[in-house]
Amino acid sequence: MVRREFNHEVPIITVRHFTAGYDGHVLLRDLSFDIYPGEVFVILGGSGCGKSTLLKHMIGLYQPLKGAIHIEGKDIVTAQGQQRLGILARIGVMYQQGALFGSMTLLENVRLPLEEYTDLPGEAIDRIALMKLQLVGLGPAAYKLPDEISGGMRKRAAIARAMALDPPILFLDEPSAGLDPITSAELDQLIIGLATHLNITFVVVTHELPSIETIADRVIMLDKRTQGIIAEGRPQELRDHSKNLWVRQFFNRQVEAVG
Ligand SMILES: Nc1ncnc2c1ncn2[C@@H]1O[C@H](COP(=O)(O)OP(=O)(O)O)[C@@H](O)[C@H]1O
Ligand SMILES: [Mg+2]
Repeated sequence: MVRREFNHEVPIITVRHFTAGYDGHVLLRDLSFDIYPGEVFVILGGSGCGKSTLLKHMIGLYQPLKGAIHIEGKDIVTAQGQQRLGILARIGVMYQQGALFGSMTLLENVRLPLEEYTDLPGEAIDRIALMKLQLVGLGPAAYKLPDEISGGMRKRAAIARAMALDPPILFLDEPSAGLDPITSAELDQLIIGLATHLNITFVVVTHELPSIETIADRVIMLDKRTQGIIAEGRPQELRDHSKNLWVRQFFNRQVEAVG
């Protein structure tokens, strides 16, 4: 379903001739793609094909072997010092093991990035942190510990923390991992709501088809064997028109997303 129209003129993220791997072993080779403002962009592919690796490079945790990654026009691969911090302030991240600090309340968890990156007075930080929790429906749970809430609530709290500094781009690595289908669907609705109403750009790693169908404006599908992108486009287009039979079968629920 095409939910919204996008300005496809100026990408918010560009990846060019990206090659990466570990210990001299190439995992992903010569990837190029663009992500546009306000999109929910899904990175898809079998287990171990390099989805998390790609995401970690896009947020500047690792250096690629080759290629460039521009975030709002600035290359995160080569940026250093203040310029690099400036780019990092524009992105929020929820990791695959998106852990909250267990000894801190949700409010304290969301306060952390604000304490670290701003000079705001404590009272202002409190108010902003509470607002972020309210945005994900967790206002009433602000003073609870992570252990005292459900898995779905913890994911939402982690999203609130990623949003603390109002980044225009959020990266989520398998947000629905470990959630039951209903909780997972609620999380999908939260993502769509934030993208639609706050124009946040989402880069989401997932391999769950129902989630992809609900949230994805566009997807790329990575492939372990070719180390590249085997499909790129809107899910419906890929389901009906991909030149790759396996991709069509995946979107038609005829094969599993194992690579
Ligand atoms: N820090 C690392 N050092 C060495 N190998 C790694 C590292 N992180 C991931 N790998 C390996 O790279 C491959 C891709 O991992 P990953 O990007 O996590 O895949 P995905 O997220 O698609 O399941 C896997 O074989 C994994 O074991
Ligand atoms: Mg992963």
